[in-house]
Amino acid sequence: MDHTTVGIIGGGPAGLLLARLLHNSGIDCVVLESRDRAYVEQRQRAGILEQSTVDVLRGSGAAERLDREGLVHDGIELRWNRRAQRIDFPALTGGRRVWVYAQTEVVKDLIALQTAGGAPLLFEARVTAVAGADTDRPVVHYTHQGQDKTLSCDYVVGCDGFHGVTRKAIPDGACRTFERVYPYSWFGILADVPPSCDELIYAHSPRGFALHSMRSTTVSRLYLQVANGTDPADWPDERIWDELDARFALDGGWRLERGPITSKAVLPMRSSVTEPMRWGRVFLAGDAAHIVPPTGAKGLNLAVSDVVVLARAFARLQDTGSAELLDAYSDTCLRRVWRAEHFSYFMTTTLHTDPGQSDFETRLQISQLDRIAASPHAAAELAGNYAGLTIE
Ligand code: FAD
Ligand code: PHB
Repeated sequence: MDHTTVGIIGGGPAGLLLARLLHNSGIDCVVLESRDRAYVEQRQRAGILEQSTVDVLRGSGAAERLDREGLVHDGIELRWNRRAQRIDFPALTGGRRVWVYAQTEVVKDLIALQTAGGAPLLFEARVTAVAGADTDRPVVHYTHQGQDKTLSCDYVVGCDGFHGVTRKAIPDGACRTFERVYPYSWFGILADVPPSCDELIYAHSPRGFALHSMRSTTVSRLYLQVANGTDPADWPDERIWDELDARFALDGGWRLERGPITSKAVLPMRSSVTEPMRWGRVFLAGDAAHIVPPTGAKGLNLAVSDVVVLARAFARLQDTGSAELLDAYSDTCLRRVWRAEHFSYFMTTTLHTDPGQSDFETRLQISQLDRIAASPHAAAELAGNYAGLTIE
């Protein structure tokens, strides 16, 4: 049976970055990823990197292309009641900002580094079970190239996302999950058209939420709030553009450029936290431990902060023999996780229209948005959370 110090399940952003950080500290690890490389590199997901995520990628040597191609954004625009308000991040946060650089690109950069001399990374290696979490030698069972294999580890880290196997390997009662499912979804499109704005637009409207984001200076990424269970086939391109036009409308006019739509997908929205993020020698990181609705752009950034805390703890263990940071891992991460959960919930419930929402509740949302526009204090709270907290 093969052996490694840290067995990492999942080659998404959390697993790949953890492998990079451990490798840089001279700690042995192996990454097992169930999908093939092309699938992992093309999977459309997040688009916004916080200041501290960019700092971590730079520090780990994975930001060369990000620094060339990433788009620096110093704010976002909020729209409601047919008016617009810009939130200026550096001015409100003492200089923090965000980067538009797609998760697909972060993943490609990390895979390229890893295959060019990093820790072993196995694609199409599907983990089927994790055994012995409460022993000194947990064992990962997986299938690779049609064969059943096992990897014995000093520690296992589940970076296998919300639907992974690691969390399910933890016995009932050892962890608790707190959850909220939202009564709406996002309908996301990619379009080959230059963005109609310089910065992201988050729009509250009587017809529901809309978001204008981007992937580059030539590709736009847009989202519409839709009912759960929506079938993209019911949304021909004209209907999508007309609905976006209606939700982004401003007094005084504003023009949304249209172009060929290259991808359509419906994403359900959920908040979820599993506590603690550890059981015996098995740790959970990223979406395997927590999910946020995408309105605060926090999912990928939380995955990064988890693995920074974990890599630091493994390095301390290796250098000094002390498990103090490892034992503090879950508590350290959960403080930041719950702040991001709250912010994502706040952005989601302030900007979306619940199907059963009363006019009273809509007035409360408008009052909250008016307050953000009128009060530098309220705007700074939003800016600080969006541009991201520093990693503890
Ligand atoms: P993941 O990226 O989910 O990676 C987990 C990896 O584990 C995957 O590669 C998977 O193939 C692998 N895996 C799973 N099971 C096994 C197994 N049994 N054996 C081996 N490998 C396994 N966030 C935003 O901020 N904005 C967005 O617009 C946004 N859109 C999203 C859309 C979707 C459909 C999803 C699911 C998430 C989205 N997110 C978004 C959240 C963000 O993408 C995640 O928070 C981020 O991907 C977390 O990284 P991760 O590495 O923890 O998990
Ligand atoms: C994206 O570009 O996909 C994106 C941006 C901001 C969000 C969510 C998604 O809040």
